[in-house]
Amino acid sequence: MRVGILGQKGGWHTEALVAALARRSIAAECFPVTQLTARVTARPRLTAAATSLDEFDVVFVRAIPAGSLEQIIFRVDALHRLEAAGVRVVNSAAAIERGVDKYYTAALLEDAGLPTPRTIVTERWEDALAAFQELGGDVVVKPLFGSEGRGMTRVSDADTLYRVLRALELGRYVFCVQEFVPHGCADIRTFVVGGRVVAAMLRRGNGWKTNTAQGAKGEPYDMDDHVVEMSLRSAEVLGAEHAGVDILPCESGGYSVLEVNTIPGWRSLLSATGVDAAECLVDHVLEGSG
Ligand SMILES: Nc1ncnc2c1ncn2[C@@H]1O[C@H](COP(=O)(O)OP(=O)(O)O)[C@@H](O)[C@H]1O
Ligand SMILES: [Mg+2]
Repeated sequence: MRVGILGQKGGWHTEALVAALARRSIAAECFPVTQLTARVTARPRLTAAATSLDEFDVVFVRAIPAGSLEQIIFRVDALHRLEAAGVRVVNSAAAIERGVDKYYTAALLEDAGLPTPRTIVTERWEDALAAFQELGGDVVVKPLFGSEGRGMTRVSDADTLYRVLRALELGRYVFCVQEFVPHGCADIRTFVVGGRVVAAMLRRGNGWKTNTAQGAKGEPYDMDDHVVEMSLRSAEVLGAEHAGVDILPCESGGYSVLEVNTIPGWRSLLSATGVDAAECLVDHVLEGSG
């Protein structure tokens, strides 16, 4: 069986997958996603640093680093083509596309009847200003494509909003304005693999951002059926074989699904819960690739 990992060689998650596969006597080959070369009407269809990926059975996608619009679209389209050639790509290109875009994810969650914060996304300056009022004057302005809590700002006065939007305008960013959901500085991160929640943690933040990359501390979390069900449905809606689901426990009661990570990390989950998601993921993929 040939298994590839698109990720940074030596990166923590890449090496965790390499080790989990090695324990099952499978030697994985790692390539950065920036090393892809695609051929049309010539073969192989896709090579990574001169190795043909067409014959691989499974390719895990561990990282799609930031790049230009052309670079990102090319990388994802190349993954679509790899799937068309019969290679199992985990997560699929479509799941990655859906999960990377916070607007697309929120829209899919809403359409599936899952609770998610009210969100307004626009390129129009006046509509972004109006969104602030419409969402109650306490909002989070966040990057459409972002992670680890980077670049998002909570805004609760009109002057600050004005400055934030002006800065975003200079960078030609889309304005993504979301109601702030009071959550007591803690949220739930669940990890779904193959239709099962394999682990969950509560992330306690120093402030409203509860990413572990922002200093939040993870602890084991005892899920109720509702959280399990919302996590499974969220991953399903995105078509993700595995996903890290962020769920806000709302101070007003109930839950809100904030985002679904389709290239999810699991390092802090391992420290908090002892569950090694790499093992779960590899078991799941091998089960289906037998
Ligand atoms: N609308 C919101 N209301 C309250 N907290 C939020 C909101 N949006 C984001 N946060 C906080 O910021 C963190 C990061 O937001 P998220 O949308 O998951 O983006 P990222 O991809 O950067 O993790 C969340 O885990 C949560 O703690
Ligand atoms: Mg998040």
